[in-house]
Amino acid sequence: MLENRISEPSKRMNGDAKATTTIIVGAGQAGAEVAFSLRQLKYEGRIVVIGDEPVLPYRRPPLSKAYLQGEIERDALLIRQPGMYEKFDVECLTALRVEAVDRPAKRVSLSDGTVMRYTHLVLATGGRVRKLGSPVDDFSNVHYIRTLADIDRLQPDLVAGKRLLVVGGGFIGLEAAAVAAKRGLDVTVVEMAERLLQRVVAPELSAFYEAAHARRGVTIHTGAGVSHWEGDDVVRRVDLSDGSSVGVDLVVVGIGVLPETALAESIGLEVDNGIVANEISQTSDPAILAVGDCANHANVFLGRSARLESVPAAQEQGRTAARTILGDPEPHAAVPWFWSDQFDLKLQMAGLTTDYDDAVLRGRPEDEAFGVFYLKDGVLISGHMVNRPKDFGQTRKLIATRQAMDPAKLSDESCPLPDAALPE
Ligand code: APR
Repeated sequence: MLENRISEPSKRMNGDAKATTTIIVGAGQAGAEVAFSLRQLKYEGRIVVIGDEPVLPYRRPPLSKAYLQGEIERDALLIRQPGMYEKFDVECLTALRVEAVDRPAKRVSLSDGTVMRYTHLVLATGGRVRKLGSPVDDFSNVHYIRTLADIDRLQPDLVAGKRLLVVGGGFIGLEAAAVAAKRGLDVTVVEMAERLLQRVVAPELSAFYEAAHARRGVTIHTGAGVSHWEGDDVVRRVDLSDGSSVGVDLVVVGIGVLPETALAESIGLEVDNGIVANEISQTSDPAILAVGDCANHANVFLGRSARLESVPAAQEQGRTAARTILGDPEPHAAVPWFWSDQFDLKLQMAGLTTDYDDAVLRGRPEDEAFGVFYLKDGVLISGHMVNRPKDFGQTRKLIATRQAMDPAKLSDESCPLPDAALPE
C-alpha cells in the first residue's frame, strides 16, 4: 500500500478555469499538513503535493525508534491512509521532483517534463543529512538515517553480536544506539563535542544520558572524532582522536540535518539558515510560502525566527500556511516542543534553551524520572522532562503563559508544578 501513487485529476477543476491551485513541494510532515489543513478549512481549489520519495507522506520520528526496532509496520508510518487522499481530493505525486519554478508565470516544471500552474506554491522541502563525504560514505557498511529506504537498508545489518559505531551523539545517533543495544549489538558512540546532545539540552541532561547509555552497555567517547577509517569496501576498524581504536562491523552516522534550500535559492528567495518565512509563512515572494524543517520561520511567541527540526513545528506552520492561502492569516505563535525515545526513557522538551540564566532540577536523575526547568529573569522559558508526561503537559502551559516561577518550589517535588508559579 505504501508505494501507492495518488494522482487523480481533480474533479474541482472541471469546467472551472478560474479555480485556484496550491502546489506543495515536499511530501513530508509539513507538506501533508498544508494539504489536509487546506481541505479542512474548506479550500476549494486544486491541491497537488509533489515528493521525490516513492512513498506517500510518512512520519519520520519512528524511523530511528520503533520502526528501526521492528515494533511497527511500514503502513503504520503513513500520515494519512491512501483512501484519505481520494476522499479529500488531494493529489499526491510521488517519485517526482520540482526542477524549476517560473515565478513571473507562476509555473513549476517537474522531473517528468510536466508543467503546472500555481496560485500558491508551498516549499516544504525539509532537510537532508549532513554527510561525512568521500571516502567514508563509499564504504558499504556506513549508514545514515533520514528516509524509509535508509532504514530498509540498515535494519538487516542490526544483528546481535555485531559491533556498531555511531558517529554523532545527537538525537539520531543516541536513538539508533539505544535500538541497537536493545537488539544485542556491541555499541560505541563517538561525539565530537564535550558532551552529548549539546545542541539542545543543558549539561545536566547530557550527563544523565551519558550515564544512562553507559548503564545499558553503550560505550561513549565525547570530545572525540574518527581520525582514521580502515577497510576496503567496508570499514573494519577506526582510530579515534582520543587515541583509542575500535573494531567495527557497521557504522551509523547522525551528525545533523541541513535545510533543503536549493530550489528556493535558485529562484532568488531570501535564504538564511533556511528559507526565510514571516509569521504567516510567506517567503520574500508572497505567493510562495515555506514551512517545516526547510524554513527559518518567524514565531510570535519566541519574538524571533527559528529553524526548528520538529514535527509539532511542521504541523503548526503547515496550518499557518493553509490559513494564509485562504486569506484568513493567523500568525504562528506556538511554543516549540520535541521528544526523543531512547530505551525506556521518554524525553519531552518544550521551549528553547538558548538564553536561560538559571536551570532548576526537579526530581532525581538516578530515579530516571525528573525534569530540568530553564528560567530567564525568573520566567519559565523551557523545560526538559524524562519520564514525566504529566509535568510536561503542565510545563507547556506555564511556558506559553510566560509564568514567573519560584525556583525553590519548582525543585520541591511535593509542590504541584502549577503551585510553583509566582502570583502575577
Ligand atoms: N564526529 C562526531 N560527532 C559529530 C561530528 C563528527 N564528525 N559532526 C557532528 N557531530 C555531532 C554534533 O556535535 C552533534 O552533537 O553530531 C551531533 C548531531 O546531533 P544533532 O544536531 O541533534 O543531529 P541528529 O542527531 O543527526 O538529528 C537530526 O533529526 O530526529 C531529528 O530532532 C532530530 O532534528 C534532528 C535531526
